[in-house]
This record gives sequence, C-alpha cells and structure tokens, in this order.
Amino acid sequence: MELADIIRGRRSIRKYEARRVEKEKLDAVAEAGLYAPNPGGRQGSKIIMLDDPALIDSIGIVNADCENRHWDVGVSSDQPSIIDDQSIRSGFYGCAALAMVCIQRERRDQVNQIGAAFVCAQNMVLRAYDLGLASVIVGRAEATFERPGMRELLDRWGLDPAYLPIVFVCLGYIRGGYPPPKARLEGRYLYVPENKK
Ligand SMILES: Cc1cc2nc3c(=O)[nH]c(=O)nc-3n(C[C@H](O)[C@H](O)[C@H](O)COP(=O)(O)O)c2cc1C
Repeated sequence: MELADIIRGRRSIRKYEARRVEKEKLDAVAEAGLYAPNPGGRQGSKIIMLDDPALIDSIGIVNADCENRHWDVGVSSDQPSIIDDQSIRSGFYGCAALAMVCIQRERRDQVNQIGAAFVCAQNMVLRAYDLGLASVIVGRAEATFERPGMRELLDRWGLDPAYLPIVFVCLGYIRGGYPPPKARLEGRYLYVPENKK
C-alpha cells in the first residue's frame, strides 16, 4: 500500500474479532516501532507484546477503571470508546494482541522520552494497517501499572525494572467493516511562503 493511503486510511478501531494475530505480523508491527526516530539516537524505548486474550482483558479492565468515563463530549459514534459506551468493560476492547511501549522511569516526565514512545506507537499502528490489522492507541499506561499487583506483571515478563509502560497499542482483526477516513478540520495548516517572512 502507498504510504499516503496508509496514513489517510488508518482509523482507531474498537471492535475486534477473537481471531489470533499471527506471530509474524506482531513481530513486523513491533519492528516498525523499533525503527521509530528516538531522542539522541539512544533507542531508549522498549516494547512488550502480549497475545493472551484473558491476560489482555484483565489488564484492560484495570485500564478502563483508570479513566474518568464521563466526558462532556463523545469520542466516536462508529467506533465507540469507553467514554461513549459505559457497558464496555476493557479499555482494550477485546483486542487479540497488545503492545506496550516502555520508557525509563527516571525520564518519565521528559517530553522527548514521552514523544519517542508515541512516535513508536504511531509507526506500529501504520504498519498494522498496512498488514491488514486494526489498531488503537490507548493511554493510561502509567496509571494502569501503578494499581496494586500490576507492577509484578512487568517483573514476571522480564521488563528491566528501570522501565515502565507509557502507552498501549491494541491490535487485532476488525469485527465489521473498516470505517472511512474522518474529514479533517479546516485551518490546521499554516504555510508561510517565502515572501511573508
Ligand atoms: C495519544 C493518544 C491517546 C489515545 N488514547 C486513547 C484511549 O485511551 N482510548 C481510546 O479508545 N482511544 C484512544 N486514542 C485514539 C483516539 O481516540 C483517536 O485517534 C481519535 O478519536 C481519532 O480517531 P481516528 O484515529 O480513527 O482518526 C488515543 C489516541 C492518541 C493519539
């Protein structure tokens, strides 16, 4: 697929089939994340990938509980989020695989470290779409792993204790049709021609 079509076509998907995602596809998505730009060229982020649906669901319930689910605006009508539909239990929407991008705990407040994690997530969702997978970036990772008993999971998975997850990427096969791209708001791009400087 053309990169421009991938960028325009990708949507945040919150309806997933139970079908497992092939390991090769998960590896390819993770690889795209590992190739993201990174501050100082230090490649300082790490990615954890899970594909156990029961485990993903149990973490997703904690994740949803970390959100104030009563916003004054909706997020999506065609792909309802935990804000739009209070009956959704998991913040990961029943996805079949879950990636977490992790950064160093002591640098968790540095904007470049946080930015590095999110560009990594962006690379992953674009590659996922290219591979025919649905995805959505999900927040509240720090809050999720601050809940009782959650940090032990990171130790069990073998994550360096100096690191913590900062953002999630849900992955899987879409349940239903893929939604069309959303129209872009006007006035968000300001091009300054040479004669105006
Ligand atoms: C940094 C970031 C955090 C997000 N967190 C969540 C989240 O916690 N839960 C969720 O359902 N969607 C989350 N999203 C997805 C947005 O809701 C989605 O990108 C937005 O509604 C636009 O829809 P689109 O991606 O289909 O264009 C997040 C997106 C970004 C970039």
